[in-house]
Amino acid sequence: MKGNKIKILLVDDDPELSWILTETISDAGYSVFSAEDGKTAVEILKNDHPDLILLDIGMPDINGIDLLGRMKVISKRIGIIMLSAHGETQTIVNAMRAGADDFVTKPFDKEELKATIKKNLERMAITSDNMPLKKKLKAKLEFGNFIGDSNQILNIKKMIEQVAGTELTILVRGESGTGKELVTRAIHNLADRKDKPFIKVNCATLPENLLESELFGYERGAFTGAQRAKPGRFEFANEGTIFLDEIGEMPPSLQAKLLQVLEEKEFNRLGGKKSVKVDVRIIVATNRDLEEGIRNGSFREDLFYRLNEVTIFVPPLREHKEDIFLLNEFFLKKYTNLYGKNVTSISPQTINLFMNYDWPGNIRELENLIKKIIVLGNEEIVYTVIPHDVVGGKVVYKNTKIVPLKEVSRLAVQKAEKATIKSVLGKTNWNRIQAAKLLQVSYRSLLSKIKEYQIRE
Ligand SMILES: Nc1ncnc2c1ncn2[C@@H]1O[C@H](COP(=O)(O)OP(=O)(O)OP(=O)(O)O)[C@@H](O)[C@H]1O
Ligand SMILES: [Mg+2]
Repeated sequence: MKGNKIKILLVDDDPELSWILTETISDAGYSVFSAEDGKTAVEILKNDHPDLILLDIGMPDINGIDLLGRMKVISKRIGIIMLSAHGETQTIVNAMRAGADDFVTKPFDKEELKATIKKNLERMAITSDNMPLKKKLKAKLEFGNFIGDSNQILNIKKMIEQVAGTELTILVRGESGTGKELVTRAIHNLADRKDKPFIKVNCATLPENLLESELFGYERGAFTGAQRAKPGRFEFANEGTIFLDEIGEMPPSLQAKLLQVLEEKEFNRLGGKKSVKVDVRIIVATNRDLEEGIRNGSFREDLFYRLNEVTIFVPPLREHKEDIFLLNEFFLKKYTNLYGKNVTSISPQTINLFMNYDWPGNIRELENLIKKIIVLGNEEIVYTVIPHDVVGGKVVYKNTKIVPLKEVSRLAVQKAEKATIKSVLGKTNWNRIQAAKLLQVSYRSLLSKIKEYQIRE
């Protein structure tokens, strides 16, 4: 991700406020540079090329408005949001006249600040010919509905970024409801093909002959009822991506034809003599054990190798339960907005049940349950789904497996360490030596923790 993140320069002489702002901004996924005086700010602007600046109007060494003018001279297309104290109306007016793009007044509401930053970046990307920003913004936004910061999900995001720009055929594997389709769409959205079609075909829902004509199309008279020629999904997907879902269910005869398309990038429509050439990126997904299919003869081994240029395994939710917190917030917001309901949170007791449950239906099951809670307006429904007992008036998960206390503390420590390291690195601008000093650990031990927790800039 390095170099691909949006960079924000924060110029404020109040260290405490600066610390809070840094945390808020880096939490929103941006990389933060901070300067406590005008001189440093100008140096950072020249050397690190930030995309956007948050600038305090009242600086000790230089008037914020003068600084704004200097910055606009150094970088014409830089976006500048002024930070001002409440009531400084005239100063704000002057700043806007001097070329500021927007302003926020102290005390800050975190969400409002994030929204202002986002709005300004989007506007800059649209109204200027700022290609690098356009690219970065796009990359960031496409992951917007793909939630999770567990190591498993971060690994998947990293893989998506790595394969998106290639022409490799991707096999996405994982249990039902884990997010395979979301992964596939993310790959397409990050690829150069993103503005071309994304065509999904579910190989499990159509009978063999229909599936064949859907995929490859047919010529007039190819079969009874074929009154007119019709192009197939492969042709519709030309220059874009075709997503063959449930590939494990594809009948063997079609597997042979698919293999041919993969190898030659061309095929014949049903009943057609002319071959049709296509340029299509292929992504396939399955929740089936394809190796077992190969052993019992229902899946072609040669096709398996051609499809599986890169495999992305999407883990079951029970293996990354720490993401339940973020997923819960995300779905809560999504469905309260959608249904216009006013459910602000889910009780700790229910979250506790969520954390203990194994989620056989994975993220889809969690999403549906939260949706029901919101629609029904209470959490009762949870008790019909998740096994529980009531002990001394408290609801507890009916646990067959007991998690050892040691394991519970290990996970809690990891989570807290990860968050602290992340925020200190943000504060030190990823200066690891400085961060190690602040955290009072050795440089080496900090590096090994960054690696272990997969903390990324
Ligand atoms: N990481 C995630 N963040 C947010 N939503 C997610 C995530 N993973 C899955 N979902 C949501 O869960 C639901 C199921 O995901 P998806 O359809 O991608 O699963 P799948 O693996 O393709 O399932 P199936 O094998 O049943 O087709 C979708 O509504 C999807 O948006
Ligand atoms: Mg799916």
